Order: sequence, then C-alpha cells, then structure tokens
Amino acid sequence: MLIQRSPEILSSEITPRAVFENRRAFIQKMAAGSIAAGVVGTLNTAQAQSASAQKLTAKANPLYQVTDKTTPYKDITSYNNYYEFGTNKGEPVMSAGTLKPRPWNVVVDGLVKKPKTYDLDSLLKLAPLEERLYRLRCVEGWSMVIPWIGFPLAELIKQVEPTSDAKFVEFVTLADPKQMPGLLSPVLDWPYREGLRLDEANHPLTLLTFGLYGEVLPNQNGAPVRITVPWKYGFKSAKSIVKISFTNRMPVTSWNQSAPQEYGFYSNVNPNVDHPRWSQASERRIGEDGFFSPKRKTLMFNGYETQVGQLYAGMDLKKFY
Ligand code: MTE
Repeated sequence: MLIQRSPEILSSEITPRAVFENRRAFIQKMAAGSIAAGVVGTLNTAQAQSASAQKLTAKANPLYQVTDKTTPYKDITSYNNYYEFGTNKGEPVMSAGTLKPRPWNVVVDGLVKKPKTYDLDSLLKLAPLEERLYRLRCVEGWSMVIPWIGFPLAELIKQVEPTSDAKFVEFVTLADPKQMPGLLSPVLDWPYREGLRLDEANHPLTLLTFGLYGEVLPNQNGAPVRITVPWKYGFKSAKSIVKISFTNRMPVTSWNQSAPQEYGFYSNVNPNVDHPRWSQASERRIGEDGFFSPKRKTLMFNGYETQVGQLYAGMDLKKFY
C-alpha cells in the first residue's frame, strides 16, 4: 500500500461526553449482569451526528463492544483510505460528495441457489440492524475504534443459499469515473475487489455495514454499504459494494494483485508477521496517540483471537499472510 506522509492527526478527544458515558454505563451494567446477554440497549449517539446526515438508529449488541475509547467522529470521517477519491487521507472527505449512494443495487450471484439483485431498501430489511463497537487496524500501522451499524453478512448469505461448491466470496465495489475522480489514477486495477473464504464471510463478526455513529455511512466511509471484517487489516473491508459473488476459487483481490509479496489474501492482523517494509508489532490510535506517544501493541487477530483463531487452526500464518 502506498504510504502517504500525511500530516498527523493531533485532534483532542472530542467524542461527546454523553455518548462515551452512556456506553461505559451500559458496558458496566452488562458486566454486572443487569442486562442479560442477547438483550440490547440503545446508545445515544445523536450528539455525535453531523448536522446534515441521515439518522440510522440501531440497538447496541452487548456481545460486540470493545472497551477501548471510541474514536472521535471527526477523525473516523476525515482520515480515510478510499483511493477512488484520492490517495491522501484527507482527500475522500473533500471529494466523495460526488458519490450517489441512492439508488443503489447489489448483485448477489455465482454459486448460489437463489441469485438476486437487492436494492438498498430490500437489503436493509433482511435483518435487524445492530450497533457494534469494533477496532479497525489499518495495514499502514494506525487504528481506530468505530461504532458501526449493520447486521451479520451471514444473514444475506443465508438468503441466497450458496451451493456446496461455493468456497469463497468476492466483493466488487463501484467504479464509476463520473462519480469517482480517483479512477483516473492507475494506482490500482479498478474496480476495487476483495474476498473472503466462505467460513470467514459467515463468521458472526463479519458485518454488512450501513452506518456509523448513529447515521448512514458517510460517502468517504463507503456509502451506502460496505463490509467490516475487524480481525483483518482494514483493506479487506471493501467499501461501496455493488456485487457479491460466490465462487469455488480464491478471488483475485486488488491489493494482492498490485503487490502480492506485501498483501496476502488472508491479511489477518498479526503482530508476528511484519510487512516486508515495516513492522506490524505496534500501532498508533488515531485521535488518541500523538506522533510522539509510544505506540500501542498490536494484538493477534486485532484482539479477536478467541472468536476467530479456530478458523485458521493448523495453518502457517507466515505462509498464508
Ligand atoms: N474500499 C474501496 N472501495 N476502496 C479503498 O480504497 N480502502 C480500504 C478499505 N476499503 C478502500 C476500501 C482501506 S486500505 C482501509 S484501511 C479501509 O477501507 C478504511 O476504511 P475507513 O476509511 O472507513 O476507516
């Protein structure tokens, strides 16, 4: 991945106090057992919304709330990797206004019994939306903590009934030069493509994502629909998806195609396997850690090892990086 020497974000902690305290109180109650597992509560994220954005409310799922401090809304929405809108972190927030997130269709096809094209509203109706607080670790060495809104991708997979031959899922994202100025640059072979093994795609942590911080996804974060795979480096979480295909072969993915020795198909967060050009042992939390603060240790599978470790039992993770 290109390493952009962008100015460091030195923002102070701006997560609205009420949001943070509500979340903390909720997590404490949960830990104390006063909220039963499976019963969910609503977090008050309204204060964090931007003035113009459309609300998207969802109940917090207590099973998927990391206890790290939530990254401020401003940082999540202004420090982005979205190369279709430029390769600098500050560019997508400036230029993604040209993306039209509605009307929007997602084609679901390939090795499935019930292929279907979903418009956004029919996709949104497939399952109840949940709010989940996930860590996102970028392969470049920074991280964030994001309150996503969505439902497990497994809910969609169930609807289309993959055949027994389906082993992988490919995600193809929008590539429209009229909406995306970055496509003029040959930095990647467009459209941006990503992929998962079917069992990874079906894992309950893999979230089909429609919003964050109580509002629909801002364009620069992948409107109107993206995936979020929190135990993998951020580039696996494809934005603005237009096609989901089920295949029997490992799909070609954009970053693997562009630099196979640097970006593997699996790309699980792994502090013990360095990128050929830099260490992956530590990271800087955007909005919290200043340029001169000591970096924090990166956790195996980004801290989700107990949930996902068994997916890779017996695999050499240095070979399958
Ligand atoms: N999806 C598309 N279509 N294009 C991209 O350039 N960048 C990836 C991923 N999904 C990217 C993409 C990378 S490198 C990261 S780290 C995450 O999106 C960043 O997501 P965020 O901006 O919402 O934090």
